[in-house]
Amino acid sequence: MTIKEYVASEKLRLAEEVKGMDHVPCLAIIQVGDVPASNAYVRGKIKDCGEVGVDARHLRFPEEIAEEELLSEIQKCNDDPSIDGLIVQLPLPKHISEAKVKLAVDARLDVDGFHPLTSFVPCTPKGIVDYLRSEGFDFTGKNAVVIGRSNIVGKPMAHLLLKENCNVTVLHSKTKQEDMAFYVGHADLIVVAVGRLGFLDERFTYKPSAVIVDVGINRNEEGKLKGDAKEGLPVALQTPVPGGVGLLTRLSLLKNVLIAAKK
Ligand code: GUN
Repeated sequence: MTIKEYVASEKLRLAEEVKGMDHVPCLAIIQVGDVPASNAYVRGKIKDCGEVGVDARHLRFPEEIAEEELLSEIQKCNDDPSIDGLIVQLPLPKHISEAKVKLAVDARLDVDGFHPLTSFVPCTPKGIVDYLRSEGFDFTGKNAVVIGRSNIVGKPMAHLLLKENCNVTVLHSKTKQEDMAFYVGHADLIVVAVGRLGFLDERFTYKPSAVIVDVGINRNEEGKLKGDAKEGLPVALQTPVPGGVGLLTRLSLLKNVLIAAKK
């Protein structure tokens, strides 16, 4: 199944699940400022909520909001019993500490999976593993290579793949090119999340049975959305951009909201 088909069918399933619940689940989305990418992401999340019958509450604050005030707004949401899940859209303006904000969100509401005590699996890694499993990918003993070590994707992805019994290697900006080529060439699963157009291309060799999961979101010279991997690499499965991991991330968010609402 393509990712689009998979997400559509999963949303139908979630919508049925919501109908059977004792209350309408509610996701609060805090957004600071007016970053165009964040506007687009938040719009997408609100649309998804509507499709499965989840109530989305969008709380917008100006770019200049003081850190203290934002933390107090987060606390208000934490204390509001009608809210099941709470996310703060990233990135935040420079004067606000992302670390403080992540800690301020009550771990029980943290459907992004960012809090150190969270019980929720972060959305992008969860979406990737759920989809690959639905495609019959067997993780046990596979060589998984994660390229990029961000807190949102690379690190939690590596952690989750370890839990799935993969042999996990994390590569990053300080990895030597010859080592990059070695690990990529031996990989059964490559998750690339570096934010660089054409980072993976035919200069590398790949196992024909390999799976490439492309988390990158870049714009080419024509302004079109493109991933970190060149299209059409000689592997068994390569996820598209757009219409790939972004949809899986949003699906996981819905799943986490339903889990939160059942607690
Ligand atoms: N910004 C980019 N990705 C994400 C995400 O998954 N959650 C939040 N809150 N902000 C983001």
